[in-house]
Amino acid sequence: MNVLILGSGGREHTLAWKLKQSPKLNRLFVAPGNAGTAAIAQNIPIGVNDFEAIKKSALSENITLVVVGPEDPLVNGIHDFFLNDNELRNIPVIGPQKAAAQLEGSKEFAKEFMIRHSIPTAAYQSFTASNLEEGYAFLDTLNSPYVLKADGLAAGKGVVILQDLDEAKAELHSMLVDEKFGGASTTVVIEEFLDGIELSVFVLTDGKGYKVLPTAKDYKRIGEGDTGLNTGGMGAISPVPFADNTFMGRIHEQVVKPTVEGLKKDNLPYKGFIFIGLIKVGDEPKVIEYNVRLGDPETEVVIPRIKNDFLEVLQAVGQENLDEIALELDYRTATTVMLVSGGYPEAYEKGKVISGFDEVQDSLVFHAGTQLKEGKVVTNGGRVMAITSFGDDFEQALKKTYQNIEKLHFEKMNYRKDIGFDL
Ligand code: AMP
Ligand code: GLY
Repeated sequence: MNVLILGSGGREHTLAWKLKQSPKLNRLFVAPGNAGTAAIAQNIPIGVNDFEAIKKSALSENITLVVVGPEDPLVNGIHDFFLNDNELRNIPVIGPQKAAAQLEGSKEFAKEFMIRHSIPTAAYQSFTASNLEEGYAFLDTLNSPYVLKADGLAAGKGVVILQDLDEAKAELHSMLVDEKFGGASTTVVIEEFLDGIELSVFVLTDGKGYKVLPTAKDYKRIGEGDTGLNTGGMGAISPVPFADNTFMGRIHEQVVKPTVEGLKKDNLPYKGFIFIGLIKVGDEPKVIEYNVRLGDPETEVVIPRIKNDFLEVLQAVGQENLDEIALELDYRTATTVMLVSGGYPEAYEKGKVISGFDEVQDSLVFHAGTQLKEGKVVTNGGRVMAITSFGDDFEQALKKTYQNIEKLHFEKMNYRKDIGFDL
């Protein structure tokens, strides 16, 4: 098979690394990719939302499977674009169609879906500028802290949690009236604050059956002890130690099954990954959000724990016979730590030379914001690379990761030294 992966992060490098191991793979392309994918596949310098350019490459390179990494092209309808094109319609796309991608594209849509299918989630109401006063009144009925969510995609920045009622009202005004997040905050979801510990569950579905992939926990804040600004993710651990069989059973019955059944009932075509962000409140799972893709850096710990020929698994998704696949997992723990550019998630510099790759032992280096420049690997983003290791437990795995990080270097390199601190 000739596979095209869309995206350029650690998630896409990990998928490329995994698919590269398949005897069924003929040629592998990543668009636009990074320095890591360039070493194992052919990068195509086109954007993930440039559907016409993607079409040209898909046809000229005789692509037989497309794997979509990030949410944007899915929410923009890349899967529908393929299905509606005579020349592309027989190329399977891993990722939901536009209607189902609304699970991530609209928080209100996701909340309505959960309520309709009795999937446990925080109580909520949604508001627009036309009922701002009702929004204020709803906030008056809630206890602190207040959770405000821009309805649309806001590059991971659309959720604001505030302690103070007046600040929450001012924020609501800023989102709805001043369009703080542009069109993404035309509608705002206000919801009950859930107090608990978070984890993510990944599901792969072909629209009929499904497989539950390994669980993961990511660390979103820039600072140690989960402080400071939100990032795309600073590290991850899989499996999640507190997700024992009893709790996973609850997640399965109360969340995963009704989600997949709900997609069918609502006629939402879905062939791809479902990323369920959960919070454990007492002993009960509650859904915080759906994403219609794999997480990053969660992928860097989830995918290495899958032993199957993953191309075979994705092919089964395309052919709607996922039920015939038995998932085989590595029962060791995988951890990953993100190396980021100094200053990230605020302003940072690019183009710093990265050294030390050859000295890394017994860890996997997945590139994210990297680029090849004049034969050297240089930084090209905030999140630069993820260092993944295995161990009998997360402490052992982390020790290896941190030992290898000592050998890697670029100017102003930063990373969290406390991944797993809360477990
Ligand atoms: P999201 O962009 O939906 O993933 O939200 C970002 C983060 O906000 C989540 O990872 C949670 O840490 C937090 N969060 C979202 N909704 C709630 C809630 N209802 N209660 C508590 N924390 C929340
Ligand atoms: N690590 C969080 C995400 O991929 O959304």
